[in-house]
Amino acid sequence: THQWRGIIEEYRDRLPVTETTPVVTLGEGGTPLVPAQVLSERTGCEVHLKVEGANPTGSFKDRGMTMAITRAKEEGAQAVICASTGNTSASAAAYAVRAGMVCAVLVPQGKIALGKMGQALVYGSKILQVDGNFDDCLNLARSLSENYPVALVNSVNPYRIEGQKTASFEIVDALGDAPDIHVLPVGNAGNITAYWKGYREYAADGLSTRTPRMWGFQASGSAPIVRGEVVKDPSTIATAIRIGNPASWQQALAARDESGGLIDEVTDREILRAYRLLASQEGVFVEPASAASVAGLLKAAEAGKVDPGQRIVCTVTGNGLKDPDWAVAGAPQPVTVPVDAAAAAERLGLA
Ligand code: F0G
Repeated sequence: THQWRGIIEEYRDRLPVTETTPVVTLGEGGTPLVPAQVLSERTGCEVHLKVEGANPTGSFKDRGMTMAITRAKEEGAQAVICASTGNTSASAAAYAVRAGMVCAVLVPQGKIALGKMGQALVYGSKILQVDGNFDDCLNLARSLSENYPVALVNSVNPYRIEGQKTASFEIVDALGDAPDIHVLPVGNAGNITAYWKGYREYAADGLSTRTPRMWGFQASGSAPIVRGEVVKDPSTIATAIRIGNPASWQQALAARDESGGLIDEVTDREILRAYRLLASQEGVFVEPASAASVAGLLKAAEAGKVDPGQRIVCTVTGNGLKDPDWAVAGAPQPVTVPVDAAAAAERLGLA
């Protein structure tokens, strides 16, 4: 059959599992790589979108979580914990259900999108809203995992990175080689670390002829890597990447420097412009943080930093339904019509 079996079965020989490992999966990965016509025209390049919102819980986190929860299960863990801006908690909660484990999540109070809170609740996790930001939540989660019987499943867990690197494999498998440039949003910097690892592994094994330049984009109000210093009170409408002290900071710098890439920032205005463009011009509805990759590509192109003719992949990390407030905000309220074809036709400009 051609049913996708989840990233562990599909890439078993490249992941830390054995024949007896109890695989915990929801069929994650195998996400669409969609040619982006309008972005290609604007940049003079061949741009593709890796649509990670198509994963089982609506974000790329599922790739890492299948791996982390599988290994936690194998090691006999009965409970897992994570800090999260929302997507990690949704994913951890779902995979913990599949594994029969308890899931505890720590989120920054008032700063996670409603859809993500709804997911963590409906999957039955134990949620604490912390009176602090994501960085505070991660410190707390680390301390709890060190002192109590609960396994940490944030991306500081190396199995998360192992799972997430499979997105690079899928891209090379689909395109026949690595792209020239790979563009990502950067928050805690686990994903850029994972993609770079995946690209390097494929190249080292001769499955691609090269590795891409890695381009990462942070939100301007939460851009510690760009500034070169911790941001104490990070802010951005892209709550998923509202992070002031990324755990994988050094690995992100290594990905940038080893690949000849860059890490830059985009403003909330640029993020929202790319967010609307993706939905209304490409038909791809993503959450605001995800649009940071595309916002960054457009910013670089407008500054003349993108040579035409290149092959570029932008990862769009999460589904737009996670945070629909931004889709509705500022949009005109739909008009109400009677049950009448003539009236509807007139309103639609058909008559
Ligand atoms: N995009 C989305 C939609 C995210 O949820 C995240 C991270 C990122 C991008 C950045 O990825 O952290 O690997 O650099 N979300 C984490 C969470 C922090 O808790 O869900 P990163």
